Amino acid sequence: MLRIVVCVSGGGTNLQAILDAIEQGKITNTEVTAVISNNANARALERARLKGIPAILMSPKEYPDREAYHEALTAKVCDLAPDLVVLAGFLVRIPPQLVEKFSNRIINIHPSLIPSFCGVGYYGLKVHEKVLERGVKVTGATVHFVNEGMDEGPIISQRAVEVEENDTPEILQRRVMEEAEWVLLPKAIDDIANGRIRVVDNKVLRCG
Ligand code: GAR
Repeated sequence: MLRIVVCVSGGGTNLQAILDAIEQGKITNTEVTAVISNNANARALERARLKGIPAILMSPKEYPDREAYHEALTAKVCDLAPDLVVLAGFLVRIPPQLVEKFSNRIINIHPSLIPSFCGVGYYGLKVHEKVLERGVKVTGATVHFVNEGMDEGPIISQRAVEVEENDTPEILQRRVMEEAEWVLLPKAIDDIANGRIRVVDNKVLRCG
């Protein structure tokens, strides 16, 4: 059984997609043991509670500085001892010490086709605003392992989504979620839980 901790900051629709997929048997051998949010108002916390999953608030505001927050977040995750950490719209920089301790055991969903529209300043709705500003015709989403870089770890899966003429950032965000994110993230977790992928030379290979 793969024990996962899901980290969230906002609406939690990706968390919901994971919980639904577990319930529907689309993700097997997996249990969400806790949800961590940096934001007290995250709807995601409510979604976890509704399923009886421990919902833990860890706000940077409660710590004197970033270093103290990093230490506390790392200690909390280590305490929970998950097999996999899933960043499902967690809009906080992951502590380097956590990345080191959980090498190739943290995955992230990003709402673009990496390496486009990613890195510092590209998160949430901002990604879709920049996509529309640039006028690209195809965008999408990416699931990747997290390394010490920003959106630079080995790519697990990607799916393209068309940009349409009258899109607003909100409309495009919703299409990317529906067509790509809510499919890719549960599938990646199921693949990991069932030993179908491994990382070799910084690349993800499928095995079975
Ligand atoms: C999602 O679109 C996710 O890809 C994005 O935040 C949103 C969270 O939505 N993540 C990033 O931008 C990470 N760089 P949700 O809370 O409804 O799942």
